[in-house]
Amino acid sequence: MLCLGIESSCDETALALVCDGTLVDAVLASQADMHAIFGGVVPELASREHYRFMGPLYDQLMSRNGFRAADLDVVAVARGPGLLGSLLVGVAFAKALALAAQARFVGVNHLHAHLLAVGLQESIPWPCLGLLVSGGHTEIYLMESPMRFIRLGRSLDDAAGEALDKIAKLLGLPYPGGIHLDALARRGRADPKLFPRPYLNNDNLDFSFSGLKTSVATQIARDASLLGTAASTGASQRLCNACASVNLAVVESLCVKVARALERFPDMRTLVLAGGVAANSLLRTRAAQLMEERAGRLLLPPPHLCTDNGAMIAYAGELLARRMFGHGMDMEAIPRGAVIPDDLRQYG
Ligand code: KG4
Ligand code: ZN
Repeated sequence: MLCLGIESSCDETALALVCDGTLVDAVLASQADMHAIFGGVVPELASREHYRFMGPLYDQLMSRNGFRAADLDVVAVARGPGLLGSLLVGVAFAKALALAAQARFVGVNHLHAHLLAVGLQESIPWPCLGLLVSGGHTEIYLMESPMRFIRLGRSLDDAAGEALDKIAKLLGLPYPGGIHLDALARRGRADPKLFPRPYLNNDNLDFSFSGLKTSVATQIARDASLLGTAASTGASQRLCNACASVNLAVVESLCVKVARALERFPDMRTLVLAGGVAANSLLRTRAAQLMEERAGRLLLPPPHLCTDNGAMIAYAGELLARRMFGHGMDMEAIPRGAVIPDDLRQYG
């Protein structure tokens, strides 16, 4: 089964072809440099860029692999959550293409696709636990099957990636800050007492990161020398240490709740780590330790499958299509904050 996956929920236009669970090829146009000028994603500009890149990227991907539209069995698209204007570009393109190619059309939940992406590398033992940490979401899931994801906890305010990006901005690092903060953190010495780990004294699996952001802002206001030099090459040791301390606070907060989820579901022996922040070096190490201590398994996608990509959409779409699920042309894009309806149709 040949499946084209289309991702346009935020600031990456990404397309990929997956055939029988294996990645064939992928293309991606990142808008990060453009949004960096504004210090964050500008939704209207994002949708314009998706509109500009979608057609050429599709042509490039198909022609360099010798495929025509008629060869596609499935067209899958990220239908949400995300920026509505950006999602609509992908959804409209995917619908038109599926109609023209007479292919099955599947709208994919972007968050589920993140958690499924590791399946391109190794098979996922169902059921298992999943930690999704991205720029827009921080959530723990009980992953029962490719069709059934039960959310156990979520961030009540900022997502971990959002907090890292905002803190990086406060520290004078370029956008998107998470990756720069991670790089500087690796050169720093973390002070475990410098920043708080908010919202741990409870018995739930939810997260909160806005207090950490406020704490960094307060510390900077008190002691501007924390900022040091912002350029990643010439960063001061003090700045690297601050980054390491922030990174540690975020990663420890995540790990406390993951450990709690593992205690609550002792039969779950596998943890899937997913989303852009899963590329974070400290989180990868700490999550591996956590699972090793419990004689469990950590499924860790390579960094290019952690951040937004087309392969995860194609992979998830093909999984659903193989189980005879899909959508009609009336499927809607769902913006961030709105509930994604359970509207998959069974064909055949
Ligand atoms: O999953 P993703 O590509 O997009 C969303 O769906 O949000 O995640 C993007 C987020 C950004 O906040 C970015 O700063 C963060 O992932 N990120 C990282 C790293 N690489 C990307 N955060 C920490 N360390 C990294 N190495
Ligand atoms: Zn994402």
